[in-house]
Amino acid sequence: MKIGVDYYPEHWDEALWEQDADLMKRSGVELVRMAEFAWSVMEPQEGEYDFSWLDKALALFQEREIQVILCTPTNCPPLWLYEKYPEALQVGRDGKRMKPAVRGHRCYNSPVYRRYTEKIVRKMGEHYRNATNVAAWQIDNEVDSPYCCCEVCAGKFREWLKEKYGSLEAVNKAYHNEVWSGSYSGWQQIYPPLGGWPITQYNPAYMLDYQRFMSESTVEYVQFQLRLLREYFPRIPITTNTYFSGSMTDFYDLFEELDFCSYDNYPTTVLPEEGYYSHAFHLDLIRGVKRKKFWIMEQLSGATGCWMKMGPTVRPGMLKGYALQAFAHGAEAVLHFRFRTAVGGAEMFWHGLIDHSNVPGRRYAEFEDLCRTVQGLSYIDKTRINAKVALLCGFDSEYAFKLQLQTEGIYYFEQMQAFHNAFSHYGVNVDIISQEEELEGYRIVVAPTMYVRSQKAVEQLHRFAREGGIVLLTARSGVKDENNNCIMQPLPRDYRDMTGCWVEEYDAIGNRKIMVEMDGENYQGTHWCDILHLESAEALGVYGEDFYAGKPAATRNAYGKGTVYYIGTVGLPALCRKLAEQTLQLAELPYYKDIPERVEITVREGEEGCFIFVFNNDDAEKDFLFEGGRIKLKPFEMKVVGGKQNE
Ligand code: GAL
Repeated sequence: MKIGVDYYPEHWDEALWEQDADLMKRSGVELVRMAEFAWSVMEPQEGEYDFSWLDKALALFQEREIQVILCTPTNCPPLWLYEKYPEALQVGRDGKRMKPAVRGHRCYNSPVYRRYTEKIVRKMGEHYRNATNVAAWQIDNEVDSPYCCCEVCAGKFREWLKEKYGSLEAVNKAYHNEVWSGSYSGWQQIYPPLGGWPITQYNPAYMLDYQRFMSESTVEYVQFQLRLLREYFPRIPITTNTYFSGSMTDFYDLFEELDFCSYDNYPTTVLPEEGYYSHAFHLDLIRGVKRKKFWIMEQLSGATGCWMKMGPTVRPGMLKGYALQAFAHGAEAVLHFRFRTAVGGAEMFWHGLIDHSNVPGRRYAEFEDLCRTVQGLSYIDKTRINAKVALLCGFDSEYAFKLQLQTEGIYYFEQMQAFHNAFSHYGVNVDIISQEEELEGYRIVVAPTMYVRSQKAVEQLHRFAREGGIVLLTARSGVKDENNNCIMQPLPRDYRDMTGCWVEEYDAIGNRKIMVEMDGENYQGTHWCDILHLESAEALGVYGEDFYAGKPAATRNAYGKGTVYYIGTVGLPALCRKLAEQTLQLAELPYYKDIPERVEITVREGEEGCFIFVFNNDDAEKDFLFEGGRIKLKPFEMKVVGGKQNE
């Protein structure tokens, strides 16, 4: 377990560097990330390289035995490059080439950008080949996959389609291009989604392919850098830092070849009254990407702001608590963004650990306390999270859901969050994994909204249930084939045999709530109502209102040696908890019954026993009975109960 900071020597007068490094050392910083935006400082003019500043910074950290993470600076190509080769810039959906005003905007497919990427990466490789204190490399910064619509992308997309479908006829068939006279009679008629129409008006089959193509382009670009870096650094781990955005690259593809997964973690500073705000969900999802420990390359350190209004500052306890929450859920390193708040540039109000005043204050003191605590927690390194409950995730469904808004307020990740929240409420470890991962070792698999078909996932889920597993499926499953078209069969189509029921009709109810009666109690769902027709399944709950009052809303079916649940609405917390508890009981898995709201339990096991991490993800104190004793937690405090031997 290591604590680090993000540091930008190029933003500060050199006279400050030494005292900054001294302070980091005294505080217990072990890792420093540098250089992800510094291309123009490294290569101020084409072919004129200057690494002297970075060498000095590296030396200062090396003298203090602080390791560094070096980054390739390709997120921000220098202006001389864009001036000479404007074609390296993305073209937006309005057909206009972007202007190099902010950061990013580069086209991952541009041959010029690739060529210059190779030059700067090789230069860094040659220069730092023998550096001894590089802990890892980070490729670029927060790559994602927005729709670039330039000519190069258009050409590559046509090639991608030829490879995938073989003929225009097959593309026309896959896209149902007979609708709206959309049939292609020549490859040159295929374009990126230009025209500025809302994305929801384009053919969803074509749009899903364009999104997949964009995601693959990003992955291919990252792999291109990876191959270059590996030539120079065959033994240093290499990653890229991701985040949750509106145009995410498929995480499972992105990290497949990389050595570990890393993620930028900015939990909220204002706790909402309701909703799923806990970042444990994101942390579990990131741990599941490679099913191993991950790094946080950027962690919340102060008030956010700049391109949006400033938010409230980090409350006492949050800075330390959120970092410990990340470690409990599988982080190996947490780096705080950033050591000191910038005094210039667009981000001057996105606060770091130290304010503009350069006087370390309350937050810095808490950071130092975190460093001390982490040193005492080194036994975590030898423990692991052993989850018996898995939640399935698939990026095709995320993309397709965005391309066709199903109803007001519904989004793909929501049901995953709802069930993550429900199982977490019972103090149960949850893995969030790709829907195509092996399911061996799990007892319960929650498969929310299996919207776009993956043959592999369908087969695995069937096998898992047949062999005795418990599966929980939700509304909007089996809706689309692999091409994002609807299917002329009753829903939930591929899952009908497992669920033992089919959808007679559905009602998209937006943000309205709907009553569901179950075991003599009233619960609530929202957004969606599948009106279910039972075959072999039994009704667990029925709708309590509307023209389908009394019709099944949730079902259970025996399938092979296992059991399959189906819920036709989007459960609000009490309903999801009810289902989670039922499945836990059926699986005979241990769980905690009376944990206060917003207290999170993570159980980690190792040779020395079993450690229970109890985290108060709330701004109110908690005082409750736990494991035969009383436990008191201040806001955002984490306590470790344990060392108990495994039975
Ligand atoms: C991240 C990004 C950083 C910085 C930070 C705070 O998304 O990687 O460079 O911009 O947000 O705004």
